[in-house]
Amino acid sequence: MQYRHLGRSGLRVSTLSLGSWVTYHNQVDASQAVEMLAAAHDAGVNFFDNAEAYALGKSEEIMGAALKKLGWPRLNYIVSTKFFWGLDRSAPAERAVNRRDTLNRKYLMQAIDGSLKRFGLEHIDLVYCHRPDPSTPIEETVRAMNDMIVAGKALYWGTSEWPAEAIHAAWHAADRHGWHKPLMEQPQYHLFHRKRVEEEYALLYRDMGLGLTTWSPLASGLLSGKYRAGIPSGSRGAMENMAFLREGLTNPARNAAVELLAPIAAELGGSLAQLAIAWAARNQNVSTVITGASSVSQVQGNLGAMALVDKLTPEVLARIDAATLALAD
Ligand SMILES: NC(=O)c1ccc[n+]([C@@H]2O[C@H](COP(=O)([O-])OP(=O)(O)OC[C@H]3O[C@@H](n4cnc5c(N)ncnc54)[C@H](OP(=O)(O)O)[C@@H]3O)[C@@H](O)[C@H]2O)c1
Repeated sequence: MQYRHLGRSGLRVSTLSLGSWVTYHNQVDASQAVEMLAAAHDAGVNFFDNAEAYALGKSEEIMGAALKKLGWPRLNYIVSTKFFWGLDRSAPAERAVNRRDTLNRKYLMQAIDGSLKRFGLEHIDLVYCHRPDPSTPIEETVRAMNDMIVAGKALYWGTSEWPAEAIHAAWHAADRHGWHKPLMEQPQYHLFHRKRVEEEYALLYRDMGLGLTTWSPLASGLLSGKYRAGIPSGSRGAMENMAFLREGLTNPARNAAVELLAPIAAELGGSLAQLAIAWAARNQNVSTVITGASSVSQVQGNLGAMALVDKLTPEVLARIDAATLALAD
């Protein structure tokens, strides 16, 4: 494993990390979570990603219980959570004090306390605003994120899927008021989804020292090659609540492009999944690539991607681009 600074901070994250979206509670119980976290930790992973919304809080509970069981020193691992959608879906949206999707102060200050309780931790290392909320003044959100840090409940804060101009506005609001600035953004980044990371955010790395913790390096599994012959049973694409992903996972042009990547992966001595993960990790603006897995063997296989990163020469990258770039957004 290699380690990179999270943006312009002193915190070093493993270049590959592990997330819990979809999997925890739906596919992975607490004892499997212990095994998967242990396998990742054995391979050098020090960052585990989570969110309040994942399995409506159950994912945080499972990770918290697993971390307790593993008993690692708190200094040795980094956990995250994210806020935006909230957990209470009972009140009709129009009558709720909070909109259900919000970054207002009332929601955020309650949300961090709920996450700490579910994790059973005294602080969360990284907290994210899971989506932008243009209906809340940016100062209100930035101040609430700052106050979580000042209260010792979180250590660093960032954004997820925010447009560059909104990150810019948040950074400058914090700068004006002397509040903690957003340090990292969590965008989708894989061979078929590149522009935001490679173009839209380009100035933010240099001007603000923005770090990236990128998500879905396999495009939910598409880049592992498993959807070339349709949707395998037991896969994410077969899950009822993931039906919205099916059209993308079975896209014929993208699956044909994945087919073209197979000989490249084989020449480099790796799997398709390892090639795709290594491709994301080769970008030095990426602090960590958050991988996803539904089994210990996927965790172990995917973390082997580190061996391919240095094999991605300009010539190899050009061949990968020839297969995928025209299909990327
Ligand atoms: N900030 C955000 O808005 C956001 C959004 C999405 C994700 N994330 C974070 O990013 C993490 C990673 O995202 P992701 O789970 O979508 O990552 P991904 O790497 O694109 O997809 C992971 C899924 O692909 C399948 N898979 C993984 N390795 C495989 C292999 N070697 N062979 C075959 N299939 C394999 C598994 O699903 P099956 O085995 O079930 O098919 C696994 O759960 C999440 O856990 C979460 O922490 C953040």
